[in-house]
Amino acid sequence: MDGLSRRNMLKAGGALGALGALSAATPAWARPPWTWSPRGSVAGTGEGADPRWVWDPEADPLVASLLDRGEVPRVNAALRTWTKNGQPLPDGLPADLRDFMERARRLPPWADRGKLGTAVEFTEKRGLYLGVLYGLASGMMSTVIPHEARAVYYSKGGAAMKDRISKTAKLGYDIGSRNAYQPDGEMVVTCVKTRLVHAAVRHLLPKSPHWPDASGEKIPISQADMMVTWHSLPTTVMRKLTAWQVPIPAADSAAFLHSWQVGAHLLGIMDEYIPASWDQANAQAAQVLDPVLEPTSEGVELADILLGLGSAVDGGVLSKPVLGAFTRFLLGDRIADWLRIAREPVWDPLLRASWGPFIAVREGLLPFPGAPQAYWLFDEFLRRAALLYLSEARPISIEIPETNRPS
Ligand code: HEM
Repeated sequence: MDGLSRRNMLKAGGALGALGALSAATPAWARPPWTWSPRGSVAGTGEGADPRWVWDPEADPLVASLLDRGEVPRVNAALRTWTKNGQPLPDGLPADLRDFMERARRLPPWADRGKLGTAVEFTEKRGLYLGVLYGLASGMMSTVIPHEARAVYYSKGGAAMKDRISKTAKLGYDIGSRNAYQPDGEMVVTCVKTRLVHAAVRHLLPKSPHWPDASGEKIPISQADMMVTWHSLPTTVMRKLTAWQVPIPAADSAAFLHSWQVGAHLLGIMDEYIPASWDQANAQAAQVLDPVLEPTSEGVELADILLGLGSAVDGGVLSKPVLGAFTRFLLGDRIADWLRIAREPVWDPLLRASWGPFIAVREGLLPFPGAPQAYWLFDEFLRRAALLYLSEARPISIEIPETNRPS
């Protein structure tokens, strides 16, 4: 049991049992019907089908067939060399996969290069906040999204969380890179590979002895699940930046949303579910994200592993309390308590008292000549250092799994 003592787990289990009894009153299938209109989506139109029962009809049968045909090792080996958006697909891919990937790698017709450029400028100025928020607000929130926590825990990568996180962190890094969607960038490649990974998980997890999961979900990673996780990323980040009163020009805010809309499309989320505006995103998140947050024993264990990731550097002496305090600060007492994160007598009050002034000073200095560039350099250093640590300085390669977590 990585990083979490059996006693703590039992304590967590007891608390979860009690919470489970409460939440049993509203199991996932009994949640209110889907009412978000496709008119609010980037497509502006659509069937309006409940996304809990829609997956990825193009990628799923294809990847299932690759797995059944035993072609995945060969495909993974070939795709290791495919790293840049503009690079031709490697030789040796099965024809059906190649056809799919050629389509899947295209930016949607509604992608706006101008907005994607503005999104880069936004990341240059706010990279530090984005790093903290992706890592500790979105990352830790994923452990209280029950479908995601269980899918991650019981899939292959659940047994090697540092590696798993380095791959997810790569997506956060790629979308914030200067050349994210440019031919020499990597975001398109990362998204298309991730789409294949998700399709594989939909084929593999239903064969796990732990499936259907405790919520009764038979096939994981529905379009609704994808949107839940998507909202844990840009929507949560924007909610926080707004709460911190970071002054963000409307064009920057729209551009940041746009870079994530394009990312959603490339990850296989259907256009009719991708919100067209922040208002629509917030309305959808209120329907799909906020009500599903809940502790699970798998999520509690994953959170503990995540908070312990810095231990190799400092034995956990400083990193774990600080990361825990940051999580409490960002996600609040309810979620921190679910995750059994200890209260920190020094760090909790310090963060509460100093984060606001820190932001005010940083924002106050932004208009000075050279400040955005200096921030970018500093933030870029931190982002690269974090990725390097997580990947243990090995190249990060997102690969299609062939198995679940060994049980
Ligand atoms: C894999 C990102 C939604 C479960 C991955 C990977 C990335 C990623 C980058 C590749 C990492 C790897 O190979 O280990 C995202 C993003 C999402 C999203 C950006 C939404 C916007 C979801 C959802 C679930 C999920 C909704 C489950 C409900 C998984 C699992 C893996 C995976 C189980 C495979 C891990 C393994 O190989 O064992 N995801 N994901 N993801 N994702 Fe997602």
